[in-house]
Formats: sequence, structure tokens, C-alpha cells
Amino acid sequence: MKVPFQEDAYKDIIEVGQKAASFIRQHFQKKDFEEETKAHDNSLVSYVDRQAEQIITRGLAELYPDYGFITEENTIRQDDQRDYYWIIDPLDGTTNFLHGLEIFSVSIALSNRSGTLLWGLVIDVMNEDVYHAAKGQGAWKNDQRLIQGDSSLKMSLLSTGFPYYRFDKKTIYLTHLEGFMASCRGLRRCGSAALDLCHVAAGIYGGFFEYDLHLWDIAAGALIIRESGGVVTDFEQDHENWKLAGHVVAGNPRCHQEMFDQVIKRNPTQPKRTS
Ligand code: IPD
Ligand code: CA
Ligand code: CA
Ligand code: CA
Repeated sequence: MKVPFQEDAYKDIIEVGQKAASFIRQHFQKKDFEEETKAHDNSLVSYVDRQAEQIITRGLAELYPDYGFITEENTIRQDDQRDYYWIIDPLDGTTNFLHGLEIFSVSIALSNRSGTLLWGLVIDVMNEDVYHAAKGQGAWKNDQRLIQGDSSLKMSLLSTGFPYYRFDKKTIYLTHLEGFMASCRGLRRCGSAALDLCHVAAGIYGGFFEYDLHLWDIAAGALIIRESGGVVTDFEQDHENWKLAGHVVAGNPRCHQEMFDQVIKRNPTQPKRTS
């Protein structure tokens, strides 16, 4: 499956993402936003998330009027029944953004109707780094091609995100966490899943694991990892189900396998698939 546009179109799409990133950066510096809560007390949002989303959807609709959208903040009609649709998280790491911690990103992926990810972009807003990948054509951080290493679990830093709402998963999550603590170099929880995945692609982390993410958190980052030569699965080593379930284990091929062999498979209770 080929990407439905030529390489010279990447620049225009990246520019749309950069416009949103620059908007977010300006407001982060001005601190002129108020936080609002969504369905849960710790599910936060502000007008910056929504405006950034509109900057992205308007820019992309101008470039590709026939494509649909799936977006976190719902500022546009949701439609994944077109031949192609964008999957957008305008600000991944909202909690960090609102609390003044400079770790957050813009995430944009392109899927076809059958759910194959074709293109992905993650912008590290404060560092102004651009990660992108096209299916079958590799992954880049700015102009540098990303090629996976093969660090072992023992020699790797791992990254994770804590379960927020689904406390049924807390016990198994904590069991995995304890196992990983004893078997890797160190664990980090930085607060932007999209960026965590890019940091796996860049070899900073050997692996990443988190439950209950949304497709907009992980679609672009997952393609970037795969195109760098890394592996993305759910907690049962299924290579497709993570998109539906939102449960992700990612890493360089060696570290990913060792995460299963040394920790996940040894833990007695695996939560059942949600789909
Ligand atoms: C969140 C971040 C965070 C992850 C949460 C996500 P948001 O996205 O990716 O790292 O742990 O599960 O919801 O809400 O800041 O876009
Ligand atoms: Ca959110
Ligand atoms: Ca997110
Ligand atoms: Ca978000």
C-alpha cells in the first residue's frame, strides 16, 4: 500500500503541524490559558488543545479536501469511512502543558479505510524536533534517518504511562512495573505517549509499555517505530490489536522480545482483550 501522495507533499503537511506547534509554544510561554476538565478530574483540556486541532484540520482539509478525520477534541465531524483519514492528537501531554512541564507534542497520522497506517508525524513542540515516517519508506528525526539498535532489556531505559481510569488494570500494571524495575536500567514516565514512542524509534528507550491509550496517542508514533525497524504489539504480542485495544508494548526487536520473556509472560494474570 503506497502513501497517497509524493514525498514532496510531506513538507506541506509538516508545515501544518508546525503551525499548530508554534501556536502551542506561544501560549505555553504566555501562560494565558485556563484548564478545564473533561469526563474525569484528571482528564484535562484547554482552548489551546481545541484551537491547535482546528489549525491542523483546516490546514489538512485545504490540502486534501476528500480525507476524513478522527480527532481527540472533536472540533470537526469524525469520519473514518473515507478512503483516507487523518488521526490527530493536537496536543499530546496536556497535563504537562498545563503544569508548565516542557514535554508535549503534536501527533498526526494518516490511515486508509481498512486501518493501515500510511504516514505519521510527531512534533516535539518545545525542542522543535520533527519525527515522521511513511509506510515502507523509513522514519526520520528531522533530516536524520532512524534505524533501530538492539539494546537488551538489561541495558535499556524503558518508558511507560500510568493507568489513569481503568483501575481494574492497576494490579497487573503494577506487577509488570515491578518486573521491569528489576530487569532494566531505569524507568521513565514523561507524559506524552506519542513522544515516548518517538524516543523508542530514536533508540533513547529500548522499550515502552502502557494500557488504555487512544489511537490518536499512538498511531503516528507506532508507524515511526515500525519504520525505524522496531516492533509494536499489544500485551499478547498481537501486531494489530493494539490499535483497537490501546494496550501497547513497543521496542527494538531484542528488547521487545525480552520484555515478554523476562517480565510479561512470567506474570500470572494478563487482562483479557477488550476487543
Ligand atoms: C495522554 C498522554 C500520556 C498518556 C495518557 C494520554 P493527552 O494524552 O499521552 O502520556 O499516559 O494516557 O491520555 O490527554 O495529554 O493528549
Ligand atoms: Ca486528553
Ligand atoms: Ca494524547
Ligand atoms: Ca491530547
